[in-house]
Amino acid sequence: MNFKTLDDLSDISGKRALVRVDLNVPMKDGRVTDATRIERVAPTIEELSGEGAKVILLAHFGRPKGKVVPEMSLKPVASAVEEVLDYRVHFATLDEAEDAISKMANGDILLLENTRYESGEEKNEPELAARYASLGDLYINDAFSAAHRAHASTEGLAHKLPSYAGRTMQAELEALQKGLGNPERPVLAIVGGAKVSTKIDLLMNLVKNVDAIVVGGGMANTFLAARGVDVQASLCEKELGQTAREIEMEAAQSGCAIVLPTDAVVAAEFKAGAESQTVAVDAVPEGQMILDAGPQSVDKVKDWISRAKTLIWNGPLGAFEIEPFDIATVESARFAAQRTEAGELVSVAGGGDTVAALNQAGVADDFTYVSTAGGAFLEWMEGKDLPGVQALADSKG
Ligand code: 3PG
Ligand code: MG
Repeated sequence: MNFKTLDDLSDISGKRALVRVDLNVPMKDGRVTDATRIERVAPTIEELSGEGAKVILLAHFGRPKGKVVPEMSLKPVASAVEEVLDYRVHFATLDEAEDAISKMANGDILLLENTRYESGEEKNEPELAARYASLGDLYINDAFSAAHRAHASTEGLAHKLPSYAGRTMQAELEALQKGLGNPERPVLAIVGGAKVSTKIDLLMNLVKNVDAIVVGGGMANTFLAARGVDVQASLCEKELGQTAREIEMEAAQSGCAIVLPTDAVVAAEFKAGAESQTVAVDAVPEGQMILDAGPQSVDKVKDWISRAKTLIWNGPLGAFEIEPFDIATVESARFAAQRTEAGELVSVAGGGDTVAALNQAGVADDFTYVSTAGGAFLEWMEGKDLPGVQALADSKG
């Protein structure tokens, strides 16, 4: 894909750079609890500011649906950005923006209020995109994780100003390209999480593009049940049996192996310290539920990882939030991290709970790339065009 990056910019001193970032960060009691997304966009902001641009940040927070919802203000996030950058970050509403920008010195940073307070944002109204465009000379999109949304600040605006991918957007696209675009084979995908229903498109696309898929987590139960295994009280979407069989058929036709657990850690209830035991998947005691993959299955996953050159990871292999049901996820993640560090594996992870799971295993920094994107990562892996990325490629700039 062809798009411009910050390397294509020169002489930006005094220019007004509108930078779309993803500051949809977890917050508790008015404080940011995980600054990863802020840290990811810091290099782009620092680079632009360092070269004398007036940096105007556009971002959304939550889903206020076109209304001013005070709890979804970005104001408290401005302080967190300030802490990460160690540089003053000014703040203004869209109505105050023109005045605030006129007062900016070269290198100053201004964060604008939640883009989703505007009713035209999610509707991608050209009038709103034009209003944003009137505030800047350049547009830089560094929000891959919001690029699956065709909104005024992620898509419309890219058509109205010379547009560039920020450093994080660039890194993300390069990593994803390595993972699925033009990967070194064999390619292994690990797809876990609770439900098959949210990952049908993902699995259908992966079976055509990868050499093997390890299915884990609650999803695996649905596949096991479709193969006729009695998973007892386990989480399972019985109504998706036919879908699971179709995915297996597609996989067989494409020469993609579907790897399911052969043993499992089961318990009568899902709570910390619950009494658990390891059994073969076809011997789950009556009334008990599968909460993690067992040691034999983990060995099998490691064996697949050691044969792969590229790994795409989405979703945990068990109920990793509660010990001891995190073991399969943690052990497999650590093994993938070791192979990556040894230079034997390109490992790309992302989507939903995946970052939390890798953090729990203490290996998020050891993967080749860990995306902070949820929906955007999945849509990319489903083979879909992301409007925010597409608009950068289409931009005349
Ligand atoms: C995210 O947090 O996944 C992105 O910021 C996108 O947010 P959204 O799902 O509300 O569009
Ligand atoms: Mg989302």
